[in-house]
Amino acid sequence: MSTPQTRRQHSFILGCWQLDDRSWTSLPLDEVERVIDTYLAWGVNTFDTADIYGRSEKLLGQFLKGRTDTKIFTKMVFFREIPTAQQIQHKLDNSLRNLHRDSLDNVQVHWHSPSLDFAPLWDTLRTLHDRGKIRQLGVTNFTTPMLKQALEYAPISTHQVQYSLIDRRVENTMQALCLDRGITLLPYGAIAGGFLSDKFVHVPHLSQEFDHARSFYYNTMIDHHGGWSGVHQLLQVMAKIGKSYGLSVAQVALNWLHHQPGVGQIITGLTTHRPQIQQNMEALDRDIAAADLQTLSDTSTALIPQQGDIYSYERG
Ligand SMILES: NC(=O)c1ccc[n+]([C@@H]2O[C@H](COP(=O)([O-])OP(=O)(O)OC[C@H]3O[C@@H](n4cnc5c(N)ncnc54)[C@H](OP(=O)(O)O)[C@@H]3O)[C@@H](O)[C@H]2O)c1
Repeated sequence: MSTPQTRRQHSFILGCWQLDDRSWTSLPLDEVERVIDTYLAWGVNTFDTADIYGRSEKLLGQFLKGRTDTKIFTKMVFFREIPTAQQIQHKLDNSLRNLHRDSLDNVQVHWHSPSLDFAPLWDTLRTLHDRGKIRQLGVTNFTTPMLKQALEYAPISTHQVQYSLIDRRVENTMQALCLDRGITLLPYGAIAGGFLSDKFVHVPHLSQEFDHARSFYYNTMIDHHGGWSGVHQLLQVMAKIGKSYGLSVAQVALNWLHHQPGVGQIITGLTTHRPQIQQNMEALDRDIAAADLQTLSDTSTALIPQQGDIYSYERG
């Protein structure tokens, strides 16, 4: 029988971009340890990081050292050029050292330019996978044609994409491909950095925030999806449905996403606020009726345009 703890384990990954002190508030080490322990106590045992998240990999390595009951998913990010086998090996060695592991649980390739030729990268990664140095291969922010091409070369298990009631571009073509090829979707941005929460229900106009990564990442995303007015109207419907179940807006956002086809664990971004952690961890404890989930989908469809494939406007 599944306990709330095991349900959380299978439903959430802790997103650790927030440990990058170049983009986020610099947390002291004892605070980092405390917050990781808090999520572990709630049942979360999988963590998401990246080679480009500053000190995030190292901190996870430090605080999860020897915890063989945990998994750490990392990313290899290549911006412009196709890396050589040597460069890939170098990145792998760095991540292994940072994380204090003999092998990597999941390496997600993040590729910006669809015009680059994948074959050499995948040959190297497949060899590392076959040798057991990488247990699972994943991608993040791939377009549908990019993923189709990658599948010709390597066994891809997961795709990390932005997915929420605001950004549903994944539903245009990617979701069907992932369902067809048995690739698990790992969504991030489920609550759009906090915009999909009680905090913003009574905010009719957005003012620029300068101290939160929300401003540079999710503000831009909302602009590309028709602007704040549609999101604000959606928030009213989310709040109303949430109220009838005793759920907050963030809980409704997570609950809706959990029910979408192909979605595996939701990557929920680290927060140090205990009430927010509790809210997120309890988001799936109560069921929302299918008719209300459909109302949420229909409201989002009516209010928020979804143009393009994964990461289309982000690539410029
Ligand atoms: N592949 C990619 O390109 C990519 C891009 C972005 C993120 N990611 C990964 O996905 C993870 C999750 O994404 P994300 O953090 O951007 O999105 P998110 O989960 O939508 O937002 C997380 C932020 O929302 C706030 N929050 C958390 N719970 C809340 C609640 N109940 N009510 C109100 N606000 C709440 C917190 O900020 P405060 O603590 O300040 O309130 C938290 O840092 C990241 O950590 C990273 O690992 C990957």
